[in-house]
Amino acid sequence: MLSSETIRIIKSTVPVLEKHGTDITTRFYQLLFTNHPELLNIFNHANQSKGKQQTALANAVYAAALHIDKLEMILPVVKQIAHKHRSLGIRAEHYPIVGENLLAAIKDVLGDMATEEIMQAWAEAYGVIANAFIGVEAELYQQSEKQKGGWAGFRAFRVDKKVKESDVITSFYLVPQDREAIASFKPGQYISVKLEIPGESNTHIRQYSLSDTPGKPYYRISVKREDAILDKPTGKVSAYLHKHIDQEHILWLSVPSGEFTLDEHDSRPIVFISGGVGLTPLVSMLKTLAETNPNRAITFIHAAQNGSVHALKQEVEELASCSPQISAYWCYGKPTNLDREMNAYDKEGIIDLPWLQQVISTKEASFYFCGPVPFMRTVNSLLKKWKINANDIHYEFFGPSGSLEDA
Ligand code: HEM
Repeated sequence: MLSSETIRIIKSTVPVLEKHGTDITTRFYQLLFTNHPELLNIFNHANQSKGKQQTALANAVYAAALHIDKLEMILPVVKQIAHKHRSLGIRAEHYPIVGENLLAAIKDVLGDMATEEIMQAWAEAYGVIANAFIGVEAELYQQSEKQKGGWAGFRAFRVDKKVKESDVITSFYLVPQDREAIASFKPGQYISVKLEIPGESNTHIRQYSLSDTPGKPYYRISVKREDAILDKPTGKVSAYLHKHIDQEHILWLSVPSGEFTLDEHDSRPIVFISGGVGLTPLVSMLKTLAETNPNRAITFIHAAQNGSVHALKQEVEELASCSPQISAYWCYGKPTNLDREMNAYDKEGIIDLPWLQQVISTKEASFYFCGPVPFMRTVNSLLKKWKINANDIHYEFFGPSGSLEDA
């Protein structure tokens, strides 16, 4: 239990944290990786270099500090992060390391402002926050070990099949090397892939949504090759998977995790809106609902640049053609001449509200969307303009979570 004085100090330092939050977390990562270079095997270096992880961690720390006397208020956020942590293999023994370096970073950045009293309060508060995460993560680890076909850490999977889905997206069908059962999952969940790339000193871990239904003897991931564009470098891991990982190769996977899943008690119409590779969790949801809940009205909307980068199109069209409950619509940003000749899309340009209102039969529905951040901002603001109830809007970020509010 924190004393009321400690709580007061923590809350009064939130504005300072907000001002210096990113400086503190940037300094924190410098210290962390200098003192514990082995942690470079866990963190995503691309997110680090773009500063995304710094912002995500800073936001989590502000939220925790603001609610330090009622951490249960931020339990949904803790749970979502805990899923990511479990997927990465973060353990209780990592927390003191992070705590020590975070406190040192606060001291470095705040200088004289960081009095002994403030540092002591933060040390206590970090302990409380860390315990909240450790508790939730311990439960998740237990679940994954107890679950039929579940496991802890990383397990070897063999690439059974590699299928090109579009010019930039390729699916990998992964079966366990030990030929034992694999854990079921909720559509929308992801796995982590741990990869050693020849010539690189650290291992790399990336999350990929499962793109097929649960209950199959394999997991399927559909990976976009992240090519270099302008100041964005090539995605090391996705390029390696596309180029060098073939049938019979081994990949190391963690157990399915994640909180972006369907509400099992909801039977209202459902609308899926995806951009680019953001369609992968939504295809899993669509296919699962088509099997388990064939009477549910589903609208599936996908936005892609053009037909050459539109993955899993046939899979979705087959479902839609077999069920009067499923409607699918394609929006192409820049259709090719072939797309035009083939009449391959329903809308050209970007998704707008009049079009959404035209293709979605009722706004009394649940909305799930996923895609690149600018796309998600657009969709979020359109749904808000349409006055869709916030509780009916569900989305997932690929990469560290951020905010859609600046739409
Ligand atoms: C991811 C917060 C402790 C390693 C994250 C994210 C947040 C966060 C907000 C982003 C989640 C998302 O993208 O959805 C925290 C907080 C902690 C904590 C508040 C302490 C109370 C730790 C510890 C480790 C760790 C002890 C292990 C050394 C990671 C890694 C990621 C992550 C590797 C993924 C980031 C990436 O590689 O891009 N954490 N974390 N975290 N966390 Fe933590």
